[in-house]
Amino acid sequence: MVFKHDALIIGSGLAGLRAATELAGKVDVALFSKVYPTRSHSGAAQGGIAAALGNEEPDSWEWHMFDTVKGGDYLTDQNIAEILSKDAIRAVYELEHLGVPFNRTPEGKIAQRNFGGHTRDFGKAPVKRACYAADRSGRVMMDTLYFEAVKKGIKIYPEFSVMDLIVKDGRVAGLVAYELATGEVHAFRSRAVLIATGGYGKLFKVTSNAHANTGDGLYLAYKAGIALEDMEFVQFHPTGIQGLGVLISEAARGEGGILRNREGERFMERYAPTIKDLAPRDMVSRAIYTEIREGRGINGEDYVHLDLTHLGEKKLAEKLSDISSFVRIYLGLNPVTDLIPIQPTCHYMMGGIPANLHGQVTDAGNNPVPGLYAAGECSCLSLHGANRLGCNSLLDLVVFGRRAGMQMLDDLGRLPWTELPADAEKETTDLIKRLKENRNGERAAGIRRSLQELMMFDCGVFRTASGLEKALRGIKDLEARAANLRVDSTGTRYNTDLIETVELLHMLPLAEAIVASALSRTESRGAHWREDYPERNDETWLKHSLVSKENGRVSISFKPVTITRFEPKPRAY
Ligand code: FUM
Repeated sequence: MVFKHDALIIGSGLAGLRAATELAGKVDVALFSKVYPTRSHSGAAQGGIAAALGNEEPDSWEWHMFDTVKGGDYLTDQNIAEILSKDAIRAVYELEHLGVPFNRTPEGKIAQRNFGGHTRDFGKAPVKRACYAADRSGRVMMDTLYFEAVKKGIKIYPEFSVMDLIVKDGRVAGLVAYELATGEVHAFRSRAVLIATGGYGKLFKVTSNAHANTGDGLYLAYKAGIALEDMEFVQFHPTGIQGLGVLISEAARGEGGILRNREGERFMERYAPTIKDLAPRDMVSRAIYTEIREGRGINGEDYVHLDLTHLGEKKLAEKLSDISSFVRIYLGLNPVTDLIPIQPTCHYMMGGIPANLHGQVTDAGNNPVPGLYAAGECSCLSLHGANRLGCNSLLDLVVFGRRAGMQMLDDLGRLPWTELPADAEKETTDLIKRLKENRNGERAAGIRRSLQELMMFDCGVFRTASGLEKALRGIKDLEARAANLRVDSTGTRYNTDLIETVELLHMLPLAEAIVASALSRTESRGAHWREDYPERNDETWLKHSLVSKENGRVSISFKPVTITRFEPKPRAY
């Protein structure tokens, strides 16, 4: 059966929800989620949303813009950072008016706290810019916007995994989705499709990302011929629970938490003398690994301590209650009295589907692809450059999710319907049949585990040409094995074995795109740290990368960075 909607949104996290609520009531819009919508990964965001409200101390959008650009190691497109930091103030009040229960100052204003890389006076000292709801900021925003979506009657397809994007004659015609509850495959006709499928941290062994973050939307765009932008920039958040990767919010350091090595030393004083533990994440993650490499990890192992013991029981209960319970549940420790073992965890992807300031996906010539849009972590607006600042992600989702929705609405006045091919579902049904009928192949789990390890160790915080070349060879081997995948579960109801196998087929080409981009960039910038090229090289590398794959061959091209106000300078904190 073929369904039909004016606009389809893939992904029901904050970016998808914010775009959908912009379109609701004006056109026929439908939202897809491969999980139950309220389980989307935006709900896991802890620390807050940045906006220069100036509620706790003087602040300005120019300082916010500067911090975003400097945090991104000058790869940020500055016109986009300006939109973000100016619109942040409206966006936060909009969320407040929709009912988001932000923490309050004693006089009843939205409370704000410190977060990494956010400063006053163009880098002079930390500033309180993060608006927050304890350490469950994403959760309350998700619930509020989901409620809006339901109130507005938006059609939602829950637990529908999008398997194919139909692009005909250079314009979007619709998509194909697999219904988890029934095992049925459906075609959907549409004039506009927004990809808002979030990140893909599951490519790495240790990650703060949800199980579902496998980069499906990104893969669909890549497969449709869209070159992916800045894929080499992968962010490791400094404080994941050791071994598990579960996030311990940067808010813990924003509220005064301190990182300590085996000698009990506050080592960030040596790496970032001005803002110390509140330096940007790429710098803190490298500092932690440097301590570990130089033998100052705890007990000589691969972790250091986060010390919250001086914050006191009341502050931990009021402002950091979720992470306190994670420490109790996952580690059996009490953050009031115990030091917390942490290590960097893969957290966020700066790269993704190239999109302009209206959320329109752009092709190699920088022209919008008719009917195709992207927003949120899967997109690359060149906003976060080489390294995203904490609390700029929730902001990106609501600011640019809304803008994408507005642009879709405007474009829908002109976008024609395109016929779906008669056999639109065939590629998907053939794939499912092949996986289910193969009785002698290999299961996905072992290949996925090898991929995650290889990405973690050869394409993680520190990189070298030889490690990246080894990773590329490893991915090729895994791809060869993946050509003979099988699923054990052949049923039609909630066949997660099948879905996880398909996800692996999406992850492998994305891993290759990341590694190939990382190998090509022979400099160190933001989260991309080449030990064999430890300097930033603006003369050659102040440019965005674009990776594409045609006839099995990966190629890299480049496009310029937009610089409006802030000339690149060495990045000291
Ligand atoms: O540390 C955190 O709470 C994460 C925030 C973010 O990634 O923006």
